Amino acid sequence: MLKETSISHLIRPEDLQHHGTLFAGRMAEWFVETCFVAASRLVGRPEDVVCVQIHGISFKKPANNGDIVDIKARIALLGPTSITVCGQAFVNDDEITAVSGMITFVTVDKEGKPYEHGLILPQEYIAQNREIHQEALKIRGQK
Ligand SMILES: CC(C)(COP(=O)(O)OP(=O)(O)OC[C@H]1O[C@@H](n2cnc3c(N)ncnc32)[C@H](O)[C@@H]1OP(=O)(O)O)[C@@H](O)C(=O)NCCC(=O)NCCS
Repeated sequence: MLKETSISHLIRPEDLQHHGTLFAGRMAEWFVETCFVAASRLVGRPEDVVCVQIHGISFKKPANNGDIVDIKARIALLGPTSITVCGQAFVNDDEITAVSGMITFVTVDKEGKPYEHGLILPQEYIAQNREIHQEALKIRGQK
């Protein structure tokens, strides 16, 4: 249930911008999708999950045509109705993060009204993911 979500993409010519490197808009789309999948897997009902805020996506390294991008997403923080997910992207198995950011989703009913998902993060998981948990508390204004 709390496994990391990982989605890989091969960069093709149609993914590039005028500089010849990966277009930020394409990367952002892939990034949000991976974080959405992580939140949806946890909730178990993708139709109930909506994005309320992209807290920021930092692009630290360019990627090129033919590169393979692995986007990994982990749950960072849970509120009563919210799920904050941390995403990180790596290019060609490089250990240095190329792209990173946090996104918050909310569980909503059929009328689009937030409802409490009733999920909690196990203490062991929080201990194993302390860095992103602390970062999420900070950006959500809880620390
Ligand atoms: C998501 C949505 C239902 C939230 O409605 P709301 O009236 O703000 O809901 P609430 O005030 O009850 O807040 C619900 C949760 O969202 C969080 N939240 C609200 N606005 C937020 C923001 N800007 N950033 C981060 N979290 C936010 C609240 O902190 C709360 O989390 P909690 O359960 O951990 O306390 C509403 O804003 C919406 O429908 N947005 C459009 C969603 C959408 O279409 N997404 C796709 C974008 S293209």
